[in-house]
Amino acid sequence: MQVNIPLKQVVDNSYNITIDTIPKVHFDKKVAIVTNPKVAGLHLSYLLSNITAKELYIITVPDGEEYKNQASIDLILESLFNHRFNRKSLLIAFGGGVIGDMTGYAASTYQRGVDFIQIPTTLLSQVDASVGGKTGINNSYGKNLIGAFHQPQEVYIDSHFLGTLPQREFGAGIAEIVKMAATFNQEFFEFLENADLDDKKVLQEAIKQAVETKANVVAQDEKEHGLRAALNYGHTFGHVIENETKYKTYLHGEAVAIGMVMANATAVAMGLMTSQEAQRIKNLLEKYNLPVSYSIENIQTFYEMFFLDKKSSDDAVTFIMPVGIGNVEITNTVDKNLILSVLKTFGVN
Ligand SMILES: NC(=O)c1ccc[n+]([C@@H]2O[C@H](COP(=O)([O-])OP(=O)(O)OC[C@H]3O[C@@H](n4cnc5c(N)ncnc54)[C@H](O)[C@@H]3O)[C@@H](O)[C@H]2O)c1
Repeated sequence: MQVNIPLKQVVDNSYNITIDTIPKVHFDKKVAIVTNPKVAGLHLSYLLSNITAKELYIITVPDGEEYKNQASIDLILESLFNHRFNRKSLLIAFGGGVIGDMTGYAASTYQRGVDFIQIPTTLLSQVDASVGGKTGINNSYGKNLIGAFHQPQEVYIDSHFLGTLPQREFGAGIAEIVKMAATFNQEFFEFLENADLDDKKVLQEAIKQAVETKANVVAQDEKEHGLRAALNYGHTFGHVIENETKYKTYLHGEAVAIGMVMANATAVAMGLMTSQEAQRIKNLLEKYNLPVSYSIENIQTFYEMFFLDKKSSDDAVTFIMPVGIGNVEITNTVDKNLILSVLKTFGVN
């Protein structure tokens, strides 16, 4: 016996990403702004001068990746229950990628899903984390292992917030911008080579192009069955570096920058990219003071750690390989000896 559930396809689940000054909006419903003390201290009054609601609550969770966990989700949900939020209520994520990922996840689970809006305040979250609907938290087994795909209703990207961002955090965001240009858009890459991102207008243009690039990929492959995985260029190597350095030495974007250099070296060895192209990417990363070198203590251990990557299976590592500048391929057939010989060039001896 079989029972068929004829669910209707959602034909239009699209949403807008506004890259401009936050508009003045009034919500005729209960709204909770989820943020942390640092972002609230710096920018909440600016936000509240633009966003108003029938009933508005501020939920503050501790700042930091180490608090991107179930305890913070419980804190958010508890507060929503206390204030009797219903399925028509709205959450607003106001902070960097940590706040965005957690708020989105809380929104996806509260009463089986309520709407949320992203107002990202770091460069990384503006160009990457706030776009595409991946939400989640970390646990003792690893990063982002618990979560859901839950798209926001809107994203408001206002470069005003970046004025208070520490330089290294800014660089970490640039690394993700370079990632998207190098793999998907040669013209955008050339724009970045000649751009002065200290100029607000130029930065805004770069943010727009990065968001468009990511949105275009997500529109083709929302749940990461294929193409979307290519956004992880630099991450297979980067995650191992983050792991080896216990997440203390490098910001995520910095580890990705080194990871891209390693992926490029592999692509050169495979004949997918010229050494001149690899050098251009390295130059662009160096222009924003991103790290581009790393000493691997033990090459075999480094290689084994690739298998911890979410994209890898038991016997094959999935690599995202740049093809020239502006193209990318996903492969799980890179020869182990080739990888080891590339890793050797980064070895301490
Ligand atoms: N969902 C996705 O698709 C996606 C993509 C990339 C990264 N991520 C996630 O994003 C997180 C990293 O995001 P992040 O780099 O924004 O880190 P973050 O959220 O930890 O922010 C970095 C630091 O900057 C502070 N901050 C935020 N805005 C500020 C501002 N305007 N001025 C000064 N300080 C400010 C934060 O409080 C924090 O201390 C990771 O957890 C990662 O897994 C998610």
